[in-house]
Formats: sequence, C-alpha cells, structure tokens
Amino acid sequence: MSRIAILGASGGLGTHLITSALEHGFEVSALVRDPEKITRANYNLTLIKGDAGSGEDVQAAIEECRFVVSALGARKPVMTACVQNLVRELQAVKVLKRFIFVSWLGAGDSAMQAQGVSELRSAITRTTHKKMFEDISRAEGIIRASRLPYVILRPTRLTDGGPTHSTVAVDAKEAPPGPISRVDLAHFVFRILEEPGWERREVTVGSK
Ligand SMILES: NC(=O)c1ccc[n+]([C@@H]2O[C@H](COP(=O)([O-])OP(=O)(O)OC[C@H]3O[C@@H](n4cnc5c(N)ncnc54)[C@H](OP(=O)(O)O)[C@@H]3O)[C@@H](O)[C@H]2O)c1
Repeated sequence: MSRIAILGASGGLGTHLITSALEHGFEVSALVRDPEKITRANYNLTLIKGDAGSGEDVQAAIEECRFVVSALGARKPVMTACVQNLVRELQAVKVLKRFIFVSWLGAGDSAMQAQGVSELRSAITRTTHKKMFEDISRAEGIIRASRLPYVILRPTRLTDGGPTHSTVAVDAKEAPPGPISRVDLAHFVFRILEEPGWERREVTVGSK
C-alpha cells in the first residue's frame, strides 16, 4: 500500500483530500496543528500533530511517503518559511514520486492571467493580499529551484459546492477557467497523482 502525506489536512481542501486518499486505498499521514479538528477515524489514517514550519514535525509526516500534497493555506505570509522547510525535508525522502503543491492563481507567472478574474484583479493589489501573493510566489520559486518531482496547481477560486467533474487545467497564457469546488480539486489531485507527464508543471485549475 502506498503512503501519502497531506499537509493542511484540517482545512477545507485538506478534508476532501483525506477522503479521496482513503477511497484510493492510500495509507494517509495527515499533518495537523490541532488533531481535534479531524473527527473521523480510519485504520489507514494517521494524524501527526505538528506545524509545517517545524522540520521535525514535517519529517514525521512525510517519511516513507511516495506522494506528498500540500494544501497549506494562510492569510498571513508564512508560506515561504513553511515551504523552505518542507522542500528541505522532501529532498531526504528517497521514495518520493510526486509532490503536489496547491498554490493560488495570481502567484508566479500567473499574475497576468489573474487579471482576467475580477475578484483577483482587485485583491492582488490590496496591501494585505499583495503580501500574501508575494509570499506564495516566493514559495513557488523555492519549489521550482529544487530537484523535486513537483506539480504546482493554481486554483482560481475555491468553493464548497458539490462535484461537477468539469475540471480543466490550463497554462498561464490561456484565459482563466471558472471557480472550482474543493471536492473537484481533490478529485483532480488524485487523477493526476500517478499520471505521467505532469512532473515540474505549473497549471491553473478551475472549472469549464
Ligand atoms: N480559498 C480560496 O478561494 C483559494 C483559492 C485559490 C487557492 N487556494 C489555496 O488552496 C489551498 C486550500 O485552500 P482552503 O481554503 O481549503 O484552505 P484552508 O481551509 O484555509 O486550510 C488551510 C490549512 O492549512 C493549515 N495550516 C496553515 N498554516 C499551517 C502550519 N504552519 N502548519 C500546519 N498547518 C497549517 C491550516 O491548519 P489549521 O486548521 O490549524 O489552521 C489548514 O488545515 C490553500 O493552499 C490555499 O492557499 C485557496
């Protein structure tokens, strides 16, 4: 049985990622700051209490994992430090096959593409959000500079709607797709997790 680590497992997307991972038969290691936020119990689910900023905690969550998915999100600029730590620890995981980092449309070279989404167009330039997007862009840069088998997914806007199975992935030069539900994004992560051809790609994901 393959082992997968999910970071940000107590969040909106993280919760759906756990469900999908278990449905796909993975042994799941979920890094959570507060284990009480996860009420389900499953023989194949191990909760690791810790902070993504701690090398020791991240190491405990990702050891022996073939797959690692980050759904970490914060409204404060803490991603650079967390990703710096995560990338360092991931480099020591010999069995790692794929690392999926959930970013945000507007980060990195998708800044121009985000101009096509009215909410993002104004958000990116607001002082509070500007810092957040700069932080996520720096975090992406750290991943890009590594030798890891990463995939960067940049959702447009996440919703709590049901599954629509209308997910599309486009590159930064195309028109941005519509908002995507967290459940659809979780399904998409597992659709591409082991699919060849995704390594070191950065795509915008949304719905048709
Ligand atoms: N919301 C949107 O519209 C949107 C749009 C595009 C992209 N995104 C990205 O999509 C992803 C998922 O979004 P979401 O809204 O579902 O996320 P969310 O509900 O805000 O969840 C974020 C998760 O990250 C965890 N986290 C934050 N800092 C951490 C740390 N230092 N150590 C350990 N865990 C930490 C949180 O843990 P706690 O439960 O302990 O706080 C939580 O589980 C994020 O990467 C977000 O940036 C979101």
